[in-house]
Amino acid sequence: MRIDKFLANSGFGSRKEVKKLLKTGAVKINDEVVKDSQTQLTPEVDGVTVHGEIVEYKEYIYLMMNKPSGVISATEDNHETTVIDLLELDDQRFEPFPVGRLDKDTVGLLILTNDGKLAHRLLSPKKHVPKTYYAKIEGVVTEDDIERFRSGVTLEDGYITKPAELVILSSGNESEIELTITEGKFHQVKRMFIAVGKKVSFLMRIKMGPLLLDQTLKQGEYRDLTNEEIELLKSTT
Ligand code: URA
Repeated sequence: MRIDKFLANSGFGSRKEVKKLLKTGAVKINDEVVKDSQTQLTPEVDGVTVHGEIVEYKEYIYLMMNKPSGVISATEDNHETTVIDLLELDDQRFEPFPVGRLDKDTVGLLILTNDGKLAHRLLSPKKHVPKTYYAKIEGVVTEDDIERFRSGVTLEDGYITKPAELVILSSGNESEIELTITEGKFHQVKRMFIAVGKKVSFLMRIKMGPLLLDQTLKQGEYRDLTNEEIELLKSTT
């Protein structure tokens, strides 16, 4: 594994920040200063220090991906490209999995981790973790829809959705909205709009719990969560 990846995984910031840190000469592998961010090491064997402090090799990985359209939120599949296929091998080694599912054509914020406990808490129906989506809708979204989503709509299988907050960003033949829901039924956002006679033509998750999609991530890109983001996630679930 590359030293910059090792340090980024260990919470020392983004690859860019880690590169700067390496340049300062603060990082040693087996007591030798390394400045080249491409230096390879074997985490289980080599000893790394930053400013003289030993860096414990971590067990967990926490990633934020801007999921692109056309890939599925699964760990493996015989036919389709999965979000795991988009990860570097150094990250796949940790065997992360997506926290919840986005549809194949949905883009945006997806957390990937191998921390089963955190994933479980984020997904538990009891925790009501809010998820916010930006969507384009075929048809005019109205104040009436806001009210109907607030009181709960009946999906085609009879399920009545929990109160959801709909914000209209623009309304016309194609409307733009933000919708915050606190549950995660299959195709929930699309089905909620079908329930009020409209169709979602584009769907992007922009927030999960306290975590906002990093706007600098292009679709298909991902990064490690910072220590602050990990703590924030843990403290709100
Ligand atoms: N709701 C949907 O309809 N699709 C998603 O991918 C996520 C929420």
